[in-house]
Parts: sequence; structure tokens; C-alpha cells
Amino acid sequence: MRAIKRLARCAAAGAGLALGVTGALYAADGGELYKSRACHACHGPDAKTTILPIYPKLAGQNAPYLLEQMKAIRDGTRTNGLSAAMRPLMASVPDDEFKSIADWLATLQ
Ligand code: HEC
Repeated sequence: MRAIKRLARCAAAGAGLALGVTGALYAADGGELYKSRACHACHGPDAKTTILPIYPKLAGQNAPYLLEQMKAIRDGTRTNGLSAAMRPLMASVPDDEFKSIADWLATLQ
């Protein structure tokens, strides 16, 4: 069981690496980044169907606000509520990817 878990983790890391490379090539595609950066795991594939009712919907929110919140959670200047659930996954996300994701989220209904 342990070995399987380790294998799964390796596979996930490998996929992350591959996605990281594609992410750099297609940094402008916020919808793809939203998936490859695993945002959908908590905020839902449509950015509205969140895994827990206490998690925020992001679809249709203003892009500049979204961008500021993403950076603030990553950088630890926003620590309220459940920000700690999201923060560990944000460390490696650069500003330009956040911007692409924010712009894409703002176009959703
Ligand atoms: C492990 C679950 C999880 C993941 C993965 C995650 N988030 Fe979050 N996110 C949260 C939670 C929980 C909050 C609410 C924090 C709070 O209670 O203040 C949040 C808050 C936010 C907010 C602020 C919303 C608002 O209305 O202020 C934005 C924007 C956001 N997330 C974007 C993203 C993006 C973009 C990604 C992917 C790069 C992502 N999140 C990945 C759990 C997650």
C-alpha cells in the first residue's frame, strides 16, 4: 500500500512536471492553468461547484480582485478563514499564471 502511494505520488509529480512545461508554453490559457494547477480540485471544474460549501465560488468575480487575493494568499498577507488550506499549493505559481487564471475566471458566468 505504501509503495502504491509512493508510486502515485511520483506519477503525480511527473505529471506536474510535464504540465509545468506545457504551462510555460501556454501560459496565456487560464482555463488550462486552472486545471493543471489543481484549482478545480477545491473550487470545482466550473469554479462554482466547490468541494465544500465554505469554499468560495470564483466564476464571474472581478479579475483584479481575484489576482490580488491569489497573490495575497500565496504570499501569506491574507491568512483569514481557510486560506491555509490553499496556501501550500500556491508557492510555485508565478504572477503571470495567476493573471491568466484571473482573466479566465472573470469571463465565466
Ligand atoms: C486545497 C484547496 C484549494 C486549492 C487547491 C485552491 N484553493 Fe483557492 N481557496 C481555497 C479556500 C478554502 C479559499 C477560501 C479562503 C478563506 O476562507 O478565506 C480559497 C480562496 C481563493 C480565492 C479568494 C476568493 C475570494 O472571494 O476572496 C481565490 C481568488 C482563489 N482561492 C483562487 C485559487 C486558484 C487560482 C487556485 C489554483 C491556482 C486555487 N485557488 C486553489 C481552497 C483552495
